[in-house]
Amino acid sequence: MNILITGVCGFVGFSLANKLLKSKKFRIYGIDNVNSYYSKKLKYKRLDILKKNKNFFFYRKDINAYTYILNKYKKVKFDIIYHFAAQAGVRYTVIDPNSYLHSNVNAFKNFCKFVKFKKPKKFIFASSSSVYGDMKTYPVKESNKLKPKNLYAKTKKFNEVYVENYFKKTKIKCIGLRLFTIYGEWGRPDMLIFKFLKMADKKFAFSLNNNGNMYRDFTYIDSVIRIITELILFESKKKFIVFNICSSKPIKISSVIKKLVKITNYKKINYIPMNKLEVFKTYGDNNKIFKTLKLNKKFLNFDTGLKRTFNWYKKNKNII
Ligand SMILES: NC(=O)c1ccc[n+]([C@@H]2O[C@H](COP(=O)([O-])OP(=O)(O)OC[C@H]3O[C@@H](n4cnc5c(N)ncnc54)[C@H](O)[C@@H]3O)[C@@H](O)[C@H]2O)c1
Repeated sequence: MNILITGVCGFVGFSLANKLLKSKKFRIYGIDNVNSYYSKKLKYKRLDILKKNKNFFFYRKDINAYTYILNKYKKVKFDIIYHFAAQAGVRYTVIDPNSYLHSNVNAFKNFCKFVKFKKPKKFIFASSSSVYGDMKTYPVKESNKLKPKNLYAKTKKFNEVYVENYFKKTKIKCIGLRLFTIYGEWGRPDMLIFKFLKMADKKFAFSLNNNGNMYRDFTYIDSVIRIITELILFESKKKFIVFNICSSKPIKISSVIKKLVKITNYKKINYIPMNKLEVFKTYGDNNKIFKTLKLNKKFLNFDTGLKRTFNWYKKNKNII
């Protein structure tokens, strides 16, 4: 089976490719522009690992360049296309809003042209929990009304709406993944856990918003990958479907900080106000995906996941 994964040098794309390559059943084609949003060293290290497999083929390209991508893969038939290349992050929207319009809107639309042309059986793309915005009641279900609060969230909502319309008259089954705060080995340095660990190493104060009085539905990377690999065999009756991918166990940020202080013995914290771009809480209902795939709900306990993440960080901090 041929599978194309965009954003393959990123956290989720890499973790998925790495898992699939272990089974030897798949030929994995990966695309990434290896941009400098965060440590390129980390992205190249992930790529080095993937390149050790003879069933892995890499193309360094921006997904906006769809004619190049079409040309590159003119003889390859893809069974499934997973799309993870995007500009991630909420806070960066005020630093470089254009990068969101480039990757998540314009390049996304061009990449969809490529997908339509290649006619895979399934097109599985990353959306985000941020499409929900601030809700009155939790956990949030896929059927909730969406109230995206920032540019990143709005581009993700756009992706969902666009895909539903653009592929309507095709036979391609489209699946949107509303991913909730993913953490673990090989994770993103712009996200809370590695940010804290990096600050602790440098002996800089960690800036904590709103006294840590926010909640995130932390979901361990291996659990995410376990679920999304199951989608390979999933025969969807629907043309377009979205799923929450989350542990459904929100954790207060102040409690995560306490755990990080305990494991690092570092407690220099700079208290700053709530960031208005961010939501107060993410807490998803994950029943739809587990019922649909008939999977057991199995999630690693957060303390164990955090310990594994910290151990990985200690060995790899030079590349973060
Ligand atoms: N990690 C999370 O907690 C999380 C949560 C919600 C949603 N998501 C979404 O999941 C997807 C993957 O997230 P991630 O954490 O792996 O992010 P990431 O930043 O680690 O990976 C994205 C990869 O895409 C590449 N890329 C970006 N723009 C590109 C372009 N125009 N052309 C080619 N390559 C490009 C980057 O170089 C990077 O390697 C993203 O769409 C993100 O918005 C992630």
